[in-house]
Amino acid sequence: MLKVCVVGLGYVGLPILVSFSKKYSFLGYDKSKKRIDDLKKSKDIFNEFSKKELKKINSKLTSDLKKIKTSNIFIVTVPTPIKKNKKPDLSHLKDVCLNLSSILKENDIVIFESTVYPGLTRDYCVPLLKKKNKLKLGTNLFVGYSPERINPGDVDHQLKNINKIVAYPYDYKKKEILKLYSFISRKIIFTKSIEEAETAKVIENIQRDVNIGLMNEIYLACQNLNLDFNNIINLARTKWNFLKFKPGLVGGHCLPVDPYYFANICKRNNFKTKITLAGRNINDSMTAKIYQIIKKKLLEIKSIKTKKILVCGLTYKENVSDLRNSLSLQIYNKLRKSNLNINGFDPLVDSKFAKKNLFYNSSKIFPKYDIYVILTCHDVIKKKIKKLKNKKVIKVL
Ligand SMILES: NC(=O)c1ccc[n+]([C@@H]2O[C@H](COP(=O)([O-])OP(=O)(O)OC[C@H]3O[C@@H](n4cnc5c(N)ncnc54)[C@H](O)[C@@H]3O)[C@@H](O)[C@H]2O)c1
Repeated sequence: MLKVCVVGLGYVGLPILVSFSKKYSFLGYDKSKKRIDDLKKSKDIFNEFSKKELKKINSKLTSDLKKIKTSNIFIVTVPTPIKKNKKPDLSHLKDVCLNLSSILKENDIVIFESTVYPGLTRDYCVPLLKKKNKLKLGTNLFVGYSPERINPGDVDHQLKNINKIVAYPYDYKKKEILKLYSFISRKIIFTKSIEEAETAKVIENIQRDVNIGLMNEIYLACQNLNLDFNNIINLARTKWNFLKFKPGLVGGHCLPVDPYYFANICKRNNFKTKITLAGRNINDSMTAKIYQIIKKKLLEIKSIKTKKILVCGLTYKENVSDLRNSLSLQIYNKLRKSNLNINGFDPLVDSKFAKKNLFYNSSKIFPKYDIYVILTCHDVIKKKIKKLKNKKVIKVL
C-alpha cells in the first residue's frame, strides 16, 4: 500500500495533496512552519481551497521531518527559481534531497514534480538523496519524475481533467504508481525516461514564452508604425494556421524562469540556444515599454494632475492572487513614482499583501476615481469596469 507524502505545499503541492487525500493514506510536509500553521487554521493565502476542504486534511500536515518517516512515496514539489544572475537556484531541491536522505528507508520511492532541466533529477538530486544512507538506485531506492501542468486561475484545465506525464524507469510498484497518478489526472502519459519528461516540461513553457514574446514584439512594432494591432491580428487570425497567441505581461514563476533552466544546461554542454531566450528578453522589457505607453496616454489627458487614477489588476496573470514576478505590479510601482495622483487596486490579493505593496483590495474604493488603468484584467475587474459610466478607461494590452 502506498503511503503518500507530498513535500512542499505551495501552488503545486497543495492541490496534489488534496487530490490524493480523497483515496490514499497521506501526509503533507512543508519546511515552512508558518505555511503549515496557516493551513492547519484552514487559511490558504492562494485562495484555491475552501475552509471545509482544508479542514479535512489539517491533521495530516506537518513541518516536522521525523513525522513523515512512515511514508513510502515522497512527491517533491518545492520551488525551482532562478538567481539574480539568471542561473538555476537549486537551494530548495538541495535542502529537500538532503533532508529526505536522512529519513529514506529501503524500497522508498521519490517522485520529483518541480520543474528542472534535463538530467537534473538523475545527476543532481539522486546523489543528494543517497548522501546519508546506503540505498542503491534501482535496487532499493526508486526515483521518478512527473512534471506538473497546474495552471493557476484556469478553471478549464484542473488537475483532474488534464493529462499527466509520469516517468518511472523501474518495474517496482510501477502499476501502483500509475494507479496513484491516474486517480488524480485524466490520463497518464507514461515514459521510462526521466530526462525526456524533464525536457518535455521545460519546452512546453519555452514554446509559450517565445510565442508570447513574438506577439509582444509585433504589438510594439505596430505602436511604432502607428498601426492598429488588434485589427491586424483579427485579419491574420482568419488564416487557418495562424496561432492564437496574444501579447501580454509574462510573470509568475514558470515562463520567466524555465527557459533559463534549459538554456543553462545547453550552455554547459556547449550548445548555444538562439531562440529559447529571445522571448525572455522581449517579455522582460515589457514593463518599461507598457509603462511608457500608459504614461504617454495619461499625460495626453487634460488637467491630468487634478484627476484621481486607479491602476487595476496587479497580480501576474488574470484571475489569480499571486504577485510573484508580476510585471503589472512593477508597472504600478513605476507609475506611483510619477507626480500623478495614483492608487492601485486588486480585489484578489489578500489584504496583508495588498497593504504591504501599497495598494487596495477593498472594492469600496473602486467607484471613487476619474481614470482607470487596467493591467491584469481579472473577470471581477471586467464586470466592475462595465458598470462604470462617464469614466476614462485605459487598457493598452
Ligand atoms: N505554480 C505553478 O503554476 C506551477 C506550475 C507547474 C509547475 N510548477 C513548478 O512546481 C514547483 C513548485 O512551484 P510552486 O509554485 O508550488 O512553489 P511555491 O513557492 O508556491 O511552493 C513551494 C512550497 O515548498 C516549500 N518548501 C521550500 N523548500 C522546502 C523544503 N526544503 N522542504 C519542504 N518544503 C519546502 C515552501 O515553503 C512552499 O510552501 C516549481 O518547480 C515550479 O516551477 C509550478
